[in-house]
Amino acid sequence: MEELLTSLGPVCAVIGAQWGDEGKGKVIDILAEHFDVIARSAGGANAGHTIVVNGKKHVFHLVPSGSLHEGKPVVLGAGMVIHLPTLLEEISILKEAGNDLTKRLLISDSAYIVFEYHKEMDAMFEERRKESTGKGIGTTKRGIGPAYMEKAMRSGIRIGDLRGDLTAMMEAKAKEISSLYGITVDVKKELEQIKEAQEMLKANIGDAPLFLHEQLQEGSTILIEGAQATLLDIDHGTYPYVTSSATTAAGAMQGLGLPPHVLTSCVGVAKAYCTRVGEGDFATEETGETGNRLRERGGEYGATTGRPRRCGWMHMNDMKRAAMLNGFTHWNITKLDVLDEEETIRVAMETDQKSETTYKDFAGWKSSTVGKTSWEELPENARSFLAFIEEETKVPVSLIGTGPGREDMIVK
Ligand code: IMP
Repeated sequence: MEELLTSLGPVCAVIGAQWGDEGKGKVIDILAEHFDVIARSAGGANAGHTIVVNGKKHVFHLVPSGSLHEGKPVVLGAGMVIHLPTLLEEISILKEAGNDLTKRLLISDSAYIVFEYHKEMDAMFEERRKESTGKGIGTTKRGIGPAYMEKAMRSGIRIGDLRGDLTAMMEAKAKEISSLYGITVDVKKELEQIKEAQEMLKANIGDAPLFLHEQLQEGSTILIEGAQATLLDIDHGTYPYVTSSATTAAGAMQGLGLPPHVLTSCVGVAKAYCTRVGEGDFATEETGETGNRLRERGGEYGATTGRPRRCGWMHMNDMKRAAMLNGFTHWNITKLDVLDEEETIRVAMETDQKSETTYKDFAGWKSSTVGKTSWEELPENARSFLAFIEEETKVPVSLIGTGPGREDMIVK
């Protein structure tokens, strides 16, 4: 661990390499213990990670996975879109467990507020898209796209606006939304939700970039928690089947207001296979028995929407591209144990213009890797598979997930 931490340096980003749900939460949880500040840069309540609080499982959407580490400042960056009732609920769950996040939470005053009407717009846009093209994006319906849309239109309402009275702003917004989209904004309800947040979070709104810069000057270390993942990036992902934020390492720096050169490492997180929720191309998808097996063994159901995830094999082109776009310095390959029973483990090498995919096949190891904590304990075939990822991507596999428990991790 010491060796790994030294190689990560003071500012580390953890970024998903595929379509999200790679299991970033576990490596973040492990690393968070060793970093001083935890920062989330982008996205909103479309993300979902399960956190066990006092033995009870909770799905958190806005609060970073690293928030359980008491005493550490937690930053929600300017790149985020925040649904305030969800945030308040998550804070209250933590508080009930004796962990008062409001004592150490800083929300960027430049982050955007997600209102109920954004969710209605999200659902409406999905329906319209389905009508015109036959299929939607398959969004999480959390209002993410419409919130970023208003941000880009320069008509969004920001967290910093909570410092004043929002009544006039909300009333004007209701008129605009009604005339543009025919959606009735429940101004009273929206204002009530805001009021609660205004009272509870008054002391938590501030200048996040300044705080992070000061922390760096004081010698603090920062763990940056990416949300969603590279192939869902608005610029570099599988457009239009993407989310509406920048999900790469560079996007994370932008979302936090940190200059790119301060980043000392970037851990790419990828499953040993691949999953996707929502629509869009998935060249290695297995729709039959193999897909079902991976889904059941991997518990592949969306944390936010409960949707069954589409399952398939790792695509090496995507891995290489993600490593290139983010500058990965380390891999965390997760859920290796899900492949324990597979006869053959496939890795896609190429998908051509005609959508034909060629594969490299690895013989399965057909034995349990659950709970293994050292490289030496891994079966030879599993080591060959992981070594192949290193060779192809030129990025070392430094962490390997071998089960759901926090301790089920090989640090190499
Ligand atoms: P949106 O972010 O809700 O607009 O959804 C856009 C696409 O990104 C959909 O395919 C979603 O399923 C996907 N998506 C958004 N957030 C996540 C995530 O945290 N994990 C996996 N997929 C996500």
